[in-house]
Amino acid sequence: MAALWIPALVMFAAGVCSSLSSDCTYYGLLELLNLTTSNAALEIMRPVKNWRNTTVVYLDMVLYGILGIDEKSQTVTGHIWFSVLWTNELLTWNASDFCGIKELAIPKSRLWIPDIIIKEDTSDSGSIHEDPWVILHPNGEIYSFARQRLTFTCILNLHKFPFDKQKCNITFLSMNADVKTLLLRSSDNGSSTLMRSDQFMATQGEWGLKNIDIIHDYLVGGEKNSSLLVYTVLLERKPFLYIINFVVPLVYLLVLDLASFFISVDSGEKFGFKVTVLLSVSVLLLILQDILPSTEDDLPMIANLCVGVFTLVWLSVLESMLVSFLYNLDRCCQEKNKSSIVGKVLKKKATKGQKEGDSENGEVKAEQGALPLGQLGHADLLKQVLEELKAAQQEAGGQRSPGFYTRVATIIDTLFFVGYILAFAAFVIYICVGWVDI
Ligand SMILES: *[C@@H]1O[C@H](CO)[C@@H](O)[C@H](O)[C@H]1NC(C)=O
Ligand SMILES: *[C@@H]1O[C@H](CO)[C@@H](O)[C@H](O)[C@H]1NC(C)=O
Repeated sequence: MAALWIPALVMFAAGVCSSLSSDCTYYGLLELLNLTTSNAALEIMRPVKNWRNTTVVYLDMVLYGILGIDEKSQTVTGHIWFSVLWTNELLTWNASDFCGIKELAIPKSRLWIPDIIIKEDTSDSGSIHEDPWVILHPNGEIYSFARQRLTFTCILNLHKFPFDKQKCNITFLSMNADVKTLLLRSSDNGSSTLMRSDQFMATQGEWGLKNIDIIHDYLVGGEKNSSLLVYTVLLERKPFLYIINFVVPLVYLLVLDLASFFISVDSGEKFGFKVTVLLSVSVLLLILQDILPSTEDDLPMIANLCVGVFTLVWLSVLESMLVSFLYNLDRCCQEKNKSSIVGKVLKKKATKGQKEGDSENGEVKAEQGALPLGQLGHADLLKQVLEELKAAQQEAGGQRSPGFYTRVATIIDTLFFVGYILAFAAFVIYICVGWVDI
């Protein structure tokens, strides 16, 4: 106690002396405060007259830049500027004694400074720019300023990416002081902090600052409870770029794939077209993988969208394979039938001609039999082929009419088309409900 009182008395005496002379120099003030020589006591001890006094530290933060959010490492980078205010009970003076000196700048290293850190801080050491001076006021209030390119951790919820909002904490606390000796308070409320942040905001990138809440809290631990000052920052992503870059191409690709049902199978381009669409979707999947972290517990809806589209296109490729296979099956059967019928007719003619030739001139008739076209004429032959075809058709009608596979393929195609459209609609509804319901 006495140790604290003596300097105070001495200061009082010094104050009386200087008031007589009304010193207008900083030097006089420094002498009064005993800061002309190094004063280790002022650097070491918490500046209170009674050790039971709590030093209340008022903190004020302005967020004036949001540089970006790294979804992979779950960090947010921004620019903050904060001022810290506390009272040094030992350094007071009467302004009128010093020609109205109301502010005195003192190097930080000469005074006791509250050790305040940001809990979520992951910035590298070079990112903080502290004012090397603190400003002292006649009533002992000390201001200190710092600005920082702050990278802080934030558990991101990407379920609604790119329509997500992120709530991040910036927690100020003293590294070692108990709540009884150092109490952190905000000198402002959330709404005015938000207003000033909006006013000073230099860059926001793809994020909009929506809200700032200030919470006074305690960190309960073992013997000491630390005082916490939490700024809860609500950020909202501007989704437009992702929409035109990602969602729209995805939907367009799906529509293209849907439209490709109208490409005829015969042209042979349908299959290649669908595979191209599939590849395009997989490129989008790759881009998505670059953006999003691999959180297993809560898959972002956009990943569902991508996988869904990929699956739909993949299924439609498989389906078009099946359909083209069925078409080909039918075509080759028909051709086989036709060629066998023509063969039959020709063989019949040949044997007939041979029989006739036996009765007359063997050599000539055999030649004619081998070339029945010359003997019968085209019309006759075609008629016969037609008859045989009809017969074959009736014969086959019992088991399977020609074009059976084609019809099966058409049915599959139609069913799949309807199913595809339904799945597409259900999917769009699912995504829209998930995204809009915020
Ligand atoms: C000033 O500080 C010095 C060194 O710490 C000390 O010896 C001296 O008593 C102090 N004087 C006053 C007026 O506080
Ligand atoms: C932010 O801090 C508040 C108060 O300490 C706490 O209740 C909340 O859970 C924190 N939020 C996150 C995301 O850490």
